[in-house]
Amino acid sequence: MKKDNNVIQAVQDALKLDGDPENIKEYYAGWADQYDQELENAYPGPEIIVKVLMESIETVSANGDRFESGPATFLPHSAQIMDAGCGTGMVGGFLAHRGYKYIDGTDLSSEMVEQAQKLNIYRELWGNIDLTQPPADDWQQKYDIVTCCGVFTLGHVPPETLHQLFSITKPNGIVVTSVRTSYFDSQPYERVSSEAVANHQVKLVAQQMNAPYTRDSNAHYFTYQVTPS
Ligand SMILES: C[S@@+](CC[C@H](N)C(=O)[O-])C[C@H]1O[C@@H](n2cnc3c(N)ncnc32)[C@H](O)[C@@H]1O
Repeated sequence: MKKDNNVIQAVQDALKLDGDPENIKEYYAGWADQYDQELENAYPGPEIIVKVLMESIETVSANGDRFESGPATFLPHSAQIMDAGCGTGMVGGFLAHRGYKYIDGTDLSSEMVEQAQKLNIYRELWGNIDLTQPPADDWQQKYDIVTCCGVFTLGHVPPETLHQLFSITKPNGIVVTSVRTSYFDSQPYERVSSEAVANHQVKLVAQQMNAPYTRDSNAHYFTYQVTPS
């Protein structure tokens, strides 16, 4: 059979996970030390999500909303960022390149977090954190910016996980997600997202549809701004 060079087998196998945290942990424990090498030149998602974030910050700032919660909210020298499902730290790398200093990260997989630790760009990192569960009380409304790349994908987390991301974000803060197209087409992400907008929990600041993601798939990127209650 002809080999399809566009397909990265490890990415395809990850899509077959069933959302069970123990299976996800086991899978990424076995991939962590090869992840960056295998995805080099094949996974533009982290770079794109940071680009989308930067454009969204410009949009939000142009609307004046940034100043409601302090003039420096989204600036590199002060923004408090959570990279949720940080993996080996690819998103953190692009944020640090833009000058961001206060980047925390969590992931279910301690082995992925160990790789991220080696980059020396995260302020704090936590493994064994399940994004589908309610966050600790002291994380509520803690972050100016929350990024979540590569996690809204088949076999990983349900769309309702969006609510956990919103809850750790400060009023007027920003949440940016990547959503693999096959996930968007088969899971109720759009419904959960629209309900949060309709309930005035968040504003949808930007959406970039069908943008590059992995070598074998596009993703949609969504930026939300959390509405002050
Ligand atoms: C494709 S990787 C993306 C990692 C990183 N954000 C990136 O873009 O390279 C998916 C990550 O989601 C994490 N993950 C999956 N389910 C999770 C959950 N329920 N809670 C926290 N992290 C989870 C995995 O451990 C893995 O590190």
